Amino acid sequence: MAAYTFTDHTYDVVVVGAGGAGLRATLGMAEQGLRTACVTKLFPTRSHTVAAQGGIAASLGNMGPDHWQWHLYDTVKGSDWLGDMDAMEYLAREAPKAVYELEHYGVPFSRTEDGRIYQRPFGGHTTEFGEGPPVQRTCAAADRTGHAILHTLYGQSVKHNAEFFIEFFAIDLIMTEDGVCQGVVAWDITEGTLHRFNAKMVVLATGGYGRAYFSATSAHSCTGDGGGMVARQGLPLQDMEFVQFHPTGIYGAGCLITEGARGEGGYLTNSEGERFMERYAPTYKDLASRDVVSRCMTIEIREGRGVGPNKDHIHLHLNHLPPEALKERLPGISESAKIFAGVDVTREPIPVLPTVHYNMGGIPTNYWGEVLNPTPDDPDRVLPGLMAVGEAGCASVHGANRLGSNSLIDLVVFGRAAAIRAGHVVERDSPNRPLNAESVDRAVARFDRFRHAKGSTPTAELRLRMQRVMQEDAAVFRTAEVLQQGVARMTEVAEALPDVHVTDRSMIFNTDLMETLELANLIPNALTTVVSAEARHESRGAHAREDYPDRDDENWRKHTLAVVGEDNRVTLSYRPVHTDPLTSEEEGGIALAKVAPKARVY
Ligand code: FUM
Repeated sequence: MAAYTFTDHTYDVVVVGAGGAGLRATLGMAEQGLRTACVTKLFPTRSHTVAAQGGIAASLGNMGPDHWQWHLYDTVKGSDWLGDMDAMEYLAREAPKAVYELEHYGVPFSRTEDGRIYQRPFGGHTTEFGEGPPVQRTCAAADRTGHAILHTLYGQSVKHNAEFFIEFFAIDLIMTEDGVCQGVVAWDITEGTLHRFNAKMVVLATGGYGRAYFSATSAHSCTGDGGGMVARQGLPLQDMEFVQFHPTGIYGAGCLITEGARGEGGYLTNSEGERFMERYAPTYKDLASRDVVSRCMTIEIREGRGVGPNKDHIHLHLNHLPPEALKERLPGISESAKIFAGVDVTREPIPVLPTVHYNMGGIPTNYWGEVLNPTPDDPDRVLPGLMAVGEAGCASVHGANRLGSNSLIDLVVFGRAAAIRAGHVVERDSPNRPLNAESVDRAVARFDRFRHAKGSTPTAELRLRMQRVMQEDAAVFRTAEVLQQGVARMTEVAEALPDVHVTDRSMIFNTDLMETLELANLIPNALTTVVSAEARHESRGAHAREDYPDRDDENWRKHTLAVVGEDNRVTLSYRPVHTDPLTSEEEGGIALAKVAPKARVY
């Protein structure tokens, strides 16, 4: 192994990742005077949150009646009763506060005539516990809401003296022998140096792993780095079988066309010009939740009613909407449709297709963001020194299916919650423990192995194999046969990783090495996805089994935990769903009868 020297850093908190959740956590930590570093492989405002378009859900009630309990009910139903009730209540209750904080930090939200935050309808968000009309709950900054939030949070974090280590790639967690997280080893991509970060709390805010699939709305940087680091410590990933397909990715390119397009009045048609969602979801139609709309589109295509020469996609119409409204509310997607589909949205429909968009599963946490290392006796056991927030984590607030615009609110509510919790548990006055040298050595040895890898498979080739397996074998509709094939093929991909070939041996801006490290992170995420999906013999939320078409609450209302062994075998176990809300009805909470499981129809 090459000899490496290290630069050492000591902090109270190190946040890994600078998307919406990472920045909100960083800001919250720094505001409390915790010595906080944010280590990020991207420049903060290039993090994938920048691509979030439609908005952020909170029951402000600016456009009509709304209530946090209605938001909670919709989230529970959206999750297909797999979400943890305490986390979902925390989200719905705290959402308005978190949005007003963003407003005060400076987020330039779109406005109503009387100057309040503009809110639009989004799929699955309703009034009167699903009995009333759709609600306008999604707060928007045109169709660039993530962009607006990210820039504001970055500016605020800098103002509060958080320190940023930009274009630093976190290689691995540093763990004590007794299982406490005490920092990360990171590689400064631009300078080519290695760094040891010693922290009393590490917060993983590394985003999702959409790039395990061939076609995704996610940026190429969404490589599940946090999940990879956690899996390598023999810790579990939770509910990985639940992968969200967004109904409206641009056909061919995969870029997102926001659900806000349907919120503003857009609708889908098949080759017969039929607004087919009216047949499947008579009440909420095109504003049914995402998993439902994606399945209906897939059925239309399978049954020969797709559009285009190959009848393999669907049309999204905005051309009936006033051009001024498109300009004001949907300027970004109007531009994307022009660039990526060659379509003028004021005249023609946009060709769209369900596209991988979001991972409901991730690193298991409680609603404070503390990472869990469950045992059969203690399914909520906390792993000291480690938190996970945003798409990297699984609180579990989205259960089996996330509602649109519940992601941005998840980022800020739980980024903020992690900061509140760290303010209580981090002992500011005690010194940091010395780092476990063996843990550091393991991380560096692995890094060095990849740097000098001389196998026969180029990284890009192995990545493509993985992406094709996931696209084909862990799709919108699933069967035992296809999933078993997926497990076998993904295991072969994982076993092929030691045979990878890296051409560039340098330390400075070695993208070949970085992509290899990213691939090594994607693989355990992808593997646990297919294995968990094969084992779950029911249909729930985004996990649609043709051979088990019904939800089975008696046997399967439980979270999957998946641990990847050194031999790439995945061991599964399960932990109970939290069915108790934070507050009882007497204390002003929701009546349990309101959120009892029932058939999920829109
Ligand atoms: O459609 C969208 O604007 C995406 C929003 C989300 O995933 O929450």
